[in-house]
Amino acid sequence: MARIAVVAGDGIGPEVVAQARKVLDAVLPGVQATEYDLGAARWHRTGEVLPDSVLAELAGHDAILLGAVGDPTVPPGVLERGLLLKLRFAFDQYVNLRPSRLWPGVAGPLGSVKPGEVDLVVVREGTEGLYAGAGGSLHRDTPAEVATEESLNTRHGVERVIRDAFARAGRRERRKVTLVHKTNVLTHAGSLWARTFDAVAAEHPDVATEYQHVDAAAMFLVTQPQRYDVVVTDNLFGDILTDIAAAVTGGIGLAASGCINPEGAYPSMFEPVHGSAPDIAGQGVADPVAAVLSAALLLEQLGHAEAAARVNAAVAAELASRTPGVTLRTEEVGDRLAAHSAA
Ligand code: NAD
Ligand code: IPM
Ligand code: MN
Repeated sequence: MARIAVVAGDGIGPEVVAQARKVLDAVLPGVQATEYDLGAARWHRTGEVLPDSVLAELAGHDAILLGAVGDPTVPPGVLERGLLLKLRFAFDQYVNLRPSRLWPGVAGPLGSVKPGEVDLVVVREGTEGLYAGAGGSLHRDTPAEVATEESLNTRHGVERVIRDAFARAGRRERRKVTLVHKTNVLTHAGSLWARTFDAVAAEHPDVATEYQHVDAAAMFLVTQPQRYDVVVTDNLFGDILTDIAAAVTGGIGLAASGCINPEGAYPSMFEPVHGSAPDIAGQGVADPVAAVLSAALLLEQLGHAEAAARVNAAVAAELASRTPGVTLRTEEVGDRLAAHSAA
């Protein structure tokens, strides 16, 4: 039976993860879930972010379900880098998979787009780029202060994520991959991405390709999200574009993600695209759908396609039944989704 590590984390993390767990229990009776107390509270209590012993224990699980990390009482980066990014890097989760679709019944902000018309997936590189942590600062707190933040791009890292995007596109109906970068300005990394993309594309004549600069892609995601199938991009561009994709398909409360180590050498991690939402934490009003859809991605990754399909069907029914303007209660949504998934 699957062994899942659960890192509920901060803010709305525990609220939404509790619903995802209900759903997992409903579709996979007997699933073993172990809670790990990591995040702001532990840091305040002990000063620890992610002890090596905990990292080693997490490595022994089949997958990780994570809520969100980050809290206004903790300096920025301590938890985001020390916990979330550390997990993505330590477990070599180089495919950050972020699907976006406009579900029937969901009123997106774009009048021009009908349900069913948007069905895209961003394959965001997860271990390199500006997230690598290279850089530094000089003359801190003086008028001469200088700060650099370097983007790390390796042929190995770029090629493997582009290969994943093409393989994924080959299994989809439209078979199209869009590379998003900024080759007109970032001439070093951009050239590496473009040349690698072209080389991999040559091996996949059945997959259509296009290239867009990231600023144009940000615009087209809002004006014509229908045009995308698979989008492959670097870590920071992918972070930003997936919040836009979420916004145009009904909001961040619906956006799921998987941080995947495709080789299975390490556990993959599944988490909503959203953060800890301190502005609504503790009120019981966070939408748990993103966390529940992340659990569905987890199920798919572990080979439980039928269970994942039941969760997706429950989400479809939930979203189709919503009345705009009616405030939802996190637990009630979780109960409905669990009941529907189990049936
Ligand atoms: P956020 O995603 O937490 O919140 C942005 C806005 O979206 C807020 O108004 C929030 O209320 C709303 N929102 C988010 N999730 C929602 C949900 N499920 N239902 C309804 N509304 C929802 O982003 P932020 O405010 O920029 O970041 C807050 C903290 O979370 C920061 O510490 C940040 O570093 C962290 N963060 C963590 C993750 C993660 O753990 N994967 C992701 C993003 C941000
Ligand atoms: C996300 C978040 C993270 C990221 C932060 C919290 C490190 O924004 O998962 O999208 O930038 O990847
Ligand atoms: Mn983000």
